[in-house]
Amino acid sequence: MRRDYDSFTNPNGLGVCMEGEETLFNVLESNLDTGLRGIPVGTCQTSYVDPIEGVHYVGYPVEDLVNLEEEDVIYLMLFKELPSPEQSEKFRAELALRGESLPTGALRVLESLTPGSGHPMDWLAIGIMALGTAEATGDIRSDSMNLIARMPELMARVFLLRGGKKEQLRPRKPELGLVENFVHMLGIEGEEADRMNRVLRFFFILHMDHGGGNLSTFTGKAVASGRASIYSALSSAMNALSGPLHGRANQAVLEFIQRIGTSDENEVSSFVNAEIDARRPIYGFGHGVLRAEDPRARLLIGLGEEICPDEDLYKTVKVLRKITPDILKERIPKISNPYPNVDLGSGTLLHSVGFRKPDYYTTFFGWARVAGICAQILDERNAREGRGTPIYRPKYIPRNQPHRRL
Ligand code: MLT
Repeated sequence: MRRDYDSFTNPNGLGVCMEGEETLFNVLESNLDTGLRGIPVGTCQTSYVDPIEGVHYVGYPVEDLVNLEEEDVIYLMLFKELPSPEQSEKFRAELALRGESLPTGALRVLESLTPGSGHPMDWLAIGIMALGTAEATGDIRSDSMNLIARMPELMARVFLLRGGKKEQLRPRKPELGLVENFVHMLGIEGEEADRMNRVLRFFFILHMDHGGGNLSTFTGKAVASGRASIYSALSSAMNALSGPLHGRANQAVLEFIQRIGTSDENEVSSFVNAEIDARRPIYGFGHGVLRAEDPRARLLIGLGEEICPDEDLYKTVKVLRKITPDILKERIPKISNPYPNVDLGSGTLLHSVGFRKPDYYTTFFGWARVAGICAQILDERNAREGRGTPIYRPKYIPRNQPHRRL
C-alpha cells in the first residue's frame, strides 16, 4: 500500500494550484529551511519508498529482487521491466563490450593522485569526471551505459591506486559481470571471491535506488537539469553522497560497532546510553523517510547468518538491532524513527568478506547508485511528454533583506 501522498496533504497550507489540479502539498512557513523535506517536487519511475515497507523498485519490493543478477536489476531501472533471458543476455553483452576499455586519459588522472591521499569518495568523483573529460559522447543514454559498464574498473583502480597496490591489478574481464569483474581485478579468487561476490551483489542491488529525493540522486538530477553531462551529474552526486549524514554513514557505523567492542547485551546497552548522554550520534538507526525498520537492514542482517554468524562484529549488530530502538524511544521520546537503517549491517558484511577499511564502504554505495541515478536522469529528460524537466529552480523567500540603496 502506498502512503506517501497521504502524508503530503496539508489542509491548512497556503499553496496555490491551477484550476482542476490536485493539491499535493501546501507549503507552510514551518516547511521553509527544512531541506525540502517531504515536499513533492517531481515524479519518479524507478523506485518509491514506503515509510513502513521500504523501497520498491518499479513496484517490486527489494526483497524480491535481491537475489537476481545485478545487471537484470539495472535493466529494470532503465526499462521499467525485468528482462527476458534473451534481453538479459543482450544487455549483459552490451555492458561487457562497453567495459572493454578505460580511456587512458582517465587512468593518467587517477595515477597522478597520491596513494592514501583524500577520501576514497574523492577519488571516485574525480575518476568519474576524468572518464567524462576523456570521452563523453554527449548522448546521455550512451554515456550512462558507458559509465555503468566502466564503474567496476574505476572502482578496482580507486582501491588499488589509492591503496598503493597498483601492481596487484588484474586485466579486466567484463564478460564476468559487473561485480564479478571488480572482484577479479582485485585479484581475489576461489571461495573468497564467491563470498565477496555474494555480498557485493546483494549490497549493490539493495543500494541501487531510493526514490527521487535522496540527496545524491536529487543532486545528480539537479546538475543534469542544466544539461550538464552524465559524468558531471554523477560526479556531483558522488560528492553529495560522501557526507556523513548520507552515504558516509556506512563507514561511521562500522567504526561505531568496532568502538563498542562487545556483544554482551548489558555492556552494549551501557555503551549506547553513554553515547546518548554524551550527545553523540547512534549510528545505524533512523531515516529521513522510513518510519519502521528498513527492509534493507533486515535483509543484510539476514545475509549475515549465511556469511558471518559467529563473528563478534555481527553479534554486536544483532544486539544493537534488538535493544537500541527501545533505548532510543525511552531516551529521546520525540524521535521519529528509532529503527535500524540500511547501514547497520552492511559494513559488518563487507568487513567479513575481506574489506577491512571502512573508509572505502561509501564507494560501494556510490557505485550501486550510479545506475539508479542515471535511470532517473534519463526519465527526467523524457518527462512532460518528452519536453524534459526544465532546469531546477526552486523558490527561496527573502529573509533579513530590507530594501536598501547605497
Ligand atoms: C537511502 O538509501 O536510505 C538514502 O539514499 C537516504 C534517503 O533515502 O534519503
